[in-house]
This record gives sequence, C-alpha cells and structure tokens, in this order.
Amino acid sequence: MSPAVQPRLAAVAAPPIAEAQGWIAGRSFPADRPLIDVCQAVPGYPPPPSLVSTMAQALAAPATHRYTEVPGLPALRAALAADIDGLYAGGAGAVTAEEVLITAGCNQAFCLALSALAQAGDEVILPLPHYFNYQMWLQMNGIVPRSVAFRPQTGGVPDLDEIAAAIGPATRALVLISPNNPTGAVYPPAFLEAAFELCRSAGIALVLDETYRDFMPGDGVPHGLFRRPDWAGTLVHLYSFSKVFCLTGHRVGAIAAAPALLDQVGKAMDCVAICAPHLGQLAALEGLKSLGDWRRGNAGLMRARLAALRSAFARPDIGYQVVSAGAYFAYLRHPHAGRGSHAVARRLADAQNLLALPGAMFGPGQDAYLRLAFANVDAALMPQIAARLAADAAAAF
Ligand SMILES: Cc1ncc(COP(=O)(O)O)c(C=O)c1O
Repeated sequence: MSPAVQPRLAAVAAPPIAEAQGWIAGRSFPADRPLIDVCQAVPGYPPPPSLVSTMAQALAAPATHRYTEVPGLPALRAALAADIDGLYAGGAGAVTAEEVLITAGCNQAFCLALSALAQAGDEVILPLPHYFNYQMWLQMNGIVPRSVAFRPQTGGVPDLDEIAAAIGPATRALVLISPNNPTGAVYPPAFLEAAFELCRSAGIALVLDETYRDFMPGDGVPHGLFRRPDWAGTLVHLYSFSKVFCLTGHRVGAIAAAPALLDQVGKAMDCVAICAPHLGQLAALEGLKSLGDWRRGNAGLMRARLAALRSAFARPDIGYQVVSAGAYFAYLRHPHAGRGSHAVARRLADAQNLLALPGAMFGPGQDAYLRLAFANVDAALMPQIAARLAADAAAAF
C-alpha cells in the first residue's frame, strides 16, 4: 500500500534504461561472448587524469562543499557563454554569461525550461522518435506532447510542413534534438534556421537540445542561430557536460536563453535543487578551460567508431539496416517483420549478449527499430556487434 499517486505520474512508463538493464541483472557472461552494452549512452572512457586531479584538489577547499549561486558559478556561466559564442558565432560576443544558467544535467535543463514555458493543458511539439525522458516529463505535468512523424527516408529529419501544421493556439514550444537521440541524425543548418523562423513567427519557443554537439560526424558549424541578434527571443538552448567531459555522475548541464526567461527558470531551480552540484560545476569549468584538444580528439574517436559501424554493417547477411546514424547513436530497422521491438531486443540480450534499446521505448510507430548507442564501444568491437546481429537475423524466431 502507498498513499494515492497523482494519476498523470502513475500513468507514465517506468524508466526505460532501468527496464532494459533489468534484462541482464544477475547474469554472468562467458569470456568468449561478453556482454556488449549499447543500451545507455555513456562515454566508454573515463575523464582524463588532469580533470580527476583538479576535482580531487577542489575537494580540499571548504567552498566546494557549499551551494553556488542559483544560476551557477559565474565563471562557468561566462566560460560556457564564450564556448557557445566561439563555436556558433565565431567569437562575435553573441552570448553573455547572463544568458546562461547551469543545471543539474540536461534532463533538468529541459524540465526547468518547460516549467517556465508551459503549463498543464498546453501543447509541445515533439517529433518522433521521442527522447523518452522529455515525453515522460510533459506527460506527468499534463502538457500534451504533439508528435510529428518519423521520416526514415530523410535519415530522421522531421518534415517542417508537418511541424507547421501541428502548431495551434495551445502550442508553446517545438522541441528538437540535434544530433538526435535516438536516431543520431544531425539536422542540417538550413532546417534549423527554418524551424527557428517558423517558431519565431508563431510566437513559440524553439527548445534545441545539443547534448551531442561535441561529437558531430562532420565539420562545420551546427547552425547559425546564435549569430542572429534576436536569437534569445525564440531559442532556448540546452546543453550537457555529461558526455563531453565524462561527468554523467556529477550532473551538470545548462540552458542558454533570454535572461528574463532564466529569471523564471531560477525560481524553479531554487525549489528543486538550489543549484547544480558544486564539484560538477568546477569540473565542467576546468573542462572548458583546458580540455579543448581532448574534446576534439574524442570527436575524432567517435567518427572512427561511426565509420567502423558502417563498414561492419556492409556484410550481406546482417539483416539489420542502419536507417540513420550520426553522433553517438544508430537507429536500426530489425529484420523480424511483425515482431515487436521489445521482443527483438530481449532476444538479442538473452541469446546474443547484446543489450540495445527497443524502438518502442521512443514512442508510437517505432516497433520496427532498435537504438544502438554505438559510441559506448571501441571501433574494434563493431564487427562483433554485426556478427551477433547477423546470427540473430538467421535464427528462427
Ligand atoms: C538528448 C539528450 N538530452 C539530455 C540527456 C541527459 O543528459 P544529462 O546527463 O546532462 O542530464 C541525454 C542523455 O542521454 C540525451 O540523450
């Protein structure tokens, strides 16, 4: 027995990653067929020793154990503003520290931003496949997620006309994730510019999550939105320090947006956490200050992993098709027509010791797909993944 739970929360699905990890709980794996875990997106390497030692030294300072300012350490806000400015606007001074608020991870950035932008009964456009946590947060708060179809034929880039058609009087925001989770798709700059224009003219926010922007599979600036003098009137930009500096456990992310919006976000932040973890913020600051080369090196590593994945999938008997792939993730069409993606993923976990996520965890109509967080594993393992998928494709279901 428990006290009654508010029905919107009770109706939300259990945390999906935990569910998938439950499939292998208590199992041990033979040395000649170890578990390959491409389920949760976590860097497959630790933070560099220099970052760990900076964090260790920071622990000795009494101030590290105290709260920071609600919007985050001023030095970190300034450093992230400069980092965004350098990457997207060529250092033109397009983003200031007042336009940055530090959060306890990017998931919290989304939750707080949406708390400021929408209330129960409002609508938010979330193209399919959904990043499940964002859909869950909207649902538990009574905000209606409006889906837009997944388009495998474009490698996962949503259709702008369909987005425009989904905007109505109750719409408060369009949420885009690029590079995308779960598809890995990188939305072209022209698409993002057009989405911005659409949102601006409709008077809604463009919430753009670029958690994976440090792992782009190609060169070039992701988009020119920060170069627009009016960017903060529409754009609410979300970022994570989790993957780039391997700080998933230290919970640091950020929102870049208009100061007036961040003032409102700060009220919610004060209630839920007061501030992002102090040690994590110091680590993120150190990363921005001194890990530029390391960050670029890891982008190269990810490109090598993507290239290895693509060449491993060239084997003719694989059965699984890469529908889209880019930064961190690949989205696969499985060969078992008529079988649900949960059943396919469970079978891969049970028989092939390969843990991937079912497409159905990412919203309706996704049962033909699986998500592979390929960035977790070394390039040398890609042929192993392909071999296990091929073995699964060949086995009777
Ligand atoms: C698209 C996207 N946004 C946000 C997050 C959460 O990041 P954080 O660890 O900073 O909360 C993830 C984590 O997987 C993600 O894939």
